[in-house]
Amino acid sequence: MEASPWATALRTHACGELRAEHAGREVRLCGWIANRRDHGGIFFLDLRDRFGLVQVTVDPECKEADEAMLALAASLRAEDVVCCRGRVCLRPESQVNPDRETGEIEVVATDLEVLTRAETPPIDLFDDAETGTELRLKYRYLDLRRRPMLRALEARAAFVTALRRSLEGLEFLEVETPILTKTTPEGARDYLVPSRIHKGSVYALPQSPQIFKQILMLSGVDRYYQIARCFRDEDLRADRQPEFTQCDLEMSFVEEEDVMRAVETAVAAAFEEAFGVEVELPMPRISYGEAMRRFGSDKPDLRFGLELVEASDFAAGTGFRVFDGAVEDGGAIVGLRVPGGASLSRKEIQALEECAREHGAKGLAWCKVGGGELTGPLARWFEGGRREVLCEGMKAAEGDLCLFAAGRRSRAQRILGAVRTALGAKLGLADPKVRRFCWVTDFPLFEWSEERERYEFCHHPFTAPKDLEADLAAEPETRLSRAYDLILNGWELGSGSIRIHDPEVQRRVFRFLGMEEEEAQAKFGFLLEAFRYGAPPHGGFAFGIDRIVALGLGLTNLREVIAFPKTTTAACPMTGAPSVVDPAQLEELGWRLDS
Ligand code: AMO
Ligand code: AMP
Repeated sequence: MEASPWATALRTHACGELRAEHAGREVRLCGWIANRRDHGGIFFLDLRDRFGLVQVTVDPECKEADEAMLALAASLRAEDVVCCRGRVCLRPESQVNPDRETGEIEVVATDLEVLTRAETPPIDLFDDAETGTELRLKYRYLDLRRRPMLRALEARAAFVTALRRSLEGLEFLEVETPILTKTTPEGARDYLVPSRIHKGSVYALPQSPQIFKQILMLSGVDRYYQIARCFRDEDLRADRQPEFTQCDLEMSFVEEEDVMRAVETAVAAAFEEAFGVEVELPMPRISYGEAMRRFGSDKPDLRFGLELVEASDFAAGTGFRVFDGAVEDGGAIVGLRVPGGASLSRKEIQALEECAREHGAKGLAWCKVGGGELTGPLARWFEGGRREVLCEGMKAAEGDLCLFAAGRRSRAQRILGAVRTALGAKLGLADPKVRRFCWVTDFPLFEWSEERERYEFCHHPFTAPKDLEADLAAEPETRLSRAYDLILNGWELGSGSIRIHDPEVQRRVFRFLGMEEEEAQAKFGFLLEAFRYGAPPHGGFAFGIDRIVALGLGLTNLREVIAFPKTTTAACPMTGAPSVVDPAQLEELGWRLDS
């Protein structure tokens, strides 16, 4: 039998690798005590390492088991680190544990040594322990001893390894880009690092390697990739961390399809290898307009139907002010038919109204179809022939619920899109075992920011407009970009675009966004200058490694797939970061804090 790959000076095997075929072998194992049971003088120790658990038996009947060894076994406590020699023995049939990979054997100890003692752990280390997030992160080293955590780290590593192999196979060249750099335009706040040498100046940590990768295209690298750490100071949620990892790439002499094909090839190969889930290629492509129309979202969850219906044609003209007003003002009435939804209680419908309100709706109009009648607040506006028209338009049948949002079309779509997602979760329509990838293409170039009362770029300002000749200022909201997103089960995995490579077009876009020549020069002057020396047409993409690994494992919080994540207040309870800085260090930087 070949030597174990885990053999070291201290051990011959890993605990978790022993199987029936090792029976009869003398082994030396190291690990943590997961559990110790005392059966009338015989001790059963569960010894744990990264690779699994094995039962070690300290039996007074065994000739090597002397008094000292038995006393030592009796003194062992959970999480003590021990080294033990022993013989691998087959368990009698009746004692085989089919739930454990090592369950056919046990190791009868011939020697036992304690390497270090452990205090009682402050958190439970069971696989399914339910410890609060703060505590888990404070004692992350203990939390990571739990099997699901180790498995997540392994799956993540396997995914990245497979991804690299796949991208290398597609002739991508891995290049590192700086962490101490200048502000990058991804729309979040920067993390800043003061410079000691250039007093009063700061570096920004990259929100993405965007500018450097475009510069690499100008350098002729042609196909670049990087597993890149990015930093964004933004409001955190389950799907956002202040520092995260992107698989970032860029290609020269390409159009949208070239980039999407390369990305989906690499993602599918790595996904299948790491998570054992087959991914069908090509992934479906849906335009932004279609995604909004059918699903009310630019990141549609394609695991279930429940598609929106454009209802303006058949739901207006009843005298119901909310509907008629919306259409008269150039807006729309958007409907959603919930098959069998008439069984939802008033309270359940109120929860959907609440969801609509959270997404900016003034209300949610609804009616139920039952006994050939409509019921609910909308019913009185749709009597007689109108009822039939409504039911026909909505394709509604007995037992269905129809929901409507009226107002600006895009807003009404988004509101019902959010209601659709909530219904998908509530009615269990989205099978957690299914993975549905899709591309969303043809995004708008700009979007109106209600908050700042101006147009802002949808993706980033280097994204090429579809129509290079068009006047950007004429109907800006109708301008399309050459951007595309990759979506999995309703999550945005990544974004990319074909870039602007003509400095004149880039200037026009900056100008339209209200960035004067001077500001553009100060922020991106080096990029604009670089474009003057021969820029190839290029485009690229970046997707979140944390997000794809979480979804691959069926998890919904990025914390579960990052070894040392931050809390929702961007803190690390284990190290205490961020922490107060020594005044002497500040002085060296020439900085003074007000508070
Ligand atoms: P974008 O800003 O869309 O595009 O980011 C790409 C992907 O990175 C992941 N991501 C995050 N993951 C965890 N926490 C965060 N705070 C976070 N922010 C982003 C997401 C997202 O889809 N430079 C462009 C790409 C390009 O145009 O090539 C960019 O960064 O999965
Ligand atoms: P109101 O006349 O404003 O009290 O609204 C009558 C009904 O229409 C209530 O059930 C509201 O929840 C609903 N409603 C109000 N505004 C909208 C809207 N923009 N879209 C859909 N339903 C709405």
